Amino acid sequence: MRTPLMAGNWKMYKTPAETTAFFQDFLPMVADAKDREIVLNVPFVDIAAAVAGTAGSNVGIGGQNLHWETEGAYTGEISGPMLRAAGCHYVVIGHSERRQYFGETDATVLKRTVSALAAGLTPIVCVGELLEERESGRTNQVLQTQFDGGIAGLSPEQFAKIVIAYEPVWAIGTGKTATPEIAGETHQAIRAMVAAKFGADAAGAVRILYGGSVKPNNIKELMAVEDIDGGLVGGASLEAASFAAIVNF
Ligand code: 13P
Repeated sequence: MRTPLMAGNWKMYKTPAETTAFFQDFLPMVADAKDREIVLNVPFVDIAAAVAGTAGSNVGIGGQNLHWETEGAYTGEISGPMLRAAGCHYVVIGHSERRQYFGETDATVLKRTVSALAAGLTPIVCVGELLEERESGRTNQVLQTQFDGGIAGLSPEQFAKIVIAYEPVWAIGTGKTATPEIAGETHQAIRAMVAAKFGADAAGAVRILYGGSVKPNNIKELMAVEDIDGGLVGGASLEAASFAAIVNF
């Protein structure tokens, strides 16, 4: 049995004060949510407020990126041990916005993932195809390349601790959700890649989240799909009521 993971990704939104206010509203709304993991991946400057605001609750906190070195002369970067020491238990790695705007590659995704695991964080490793890649029938080939370069280099022990997020780039922030059929068959394809590399047990155990215009009105049909184990939610995670509705699908 895979425990559903409902994760928010705030991207570059909210101040510490707004973070505190969010959790005051949000925690009572999800206090009764059982049999699922709830996580908010927040901007670095909001981690302290988020960790304080969720102390003793059923909500975990994560960062949205990390450097692969533990410390050093890397101006502007944050390391895994720093995130862990600040109270994070998760970190998003290889989000398409980092690939698109900040030069993230499959090779650096792998380095960051190894580093996150060494720091005791659960990496949420993102993969996903562009619209033109899907329209030209190259989705599985693109995902295989991302898997081979960013994930397949992990040891079986390391792989057992990661979460994969499938986020079709054409569905992010566009209001165009992948249909449950499209998401389901793509999740199945990713699980087959896992089976080929790490074996059937690993494939059965790994959680694969769907991300891309997840909203309160489509989460239920997405979660009904066998191979979808949770959501990675952008815009709809910024409001307490809408993210709570998603968590409580
Ligand atoms: P939206 O939910 O705003 O489409 O964003 C998805 C996403 O990128 C989550 O990481």
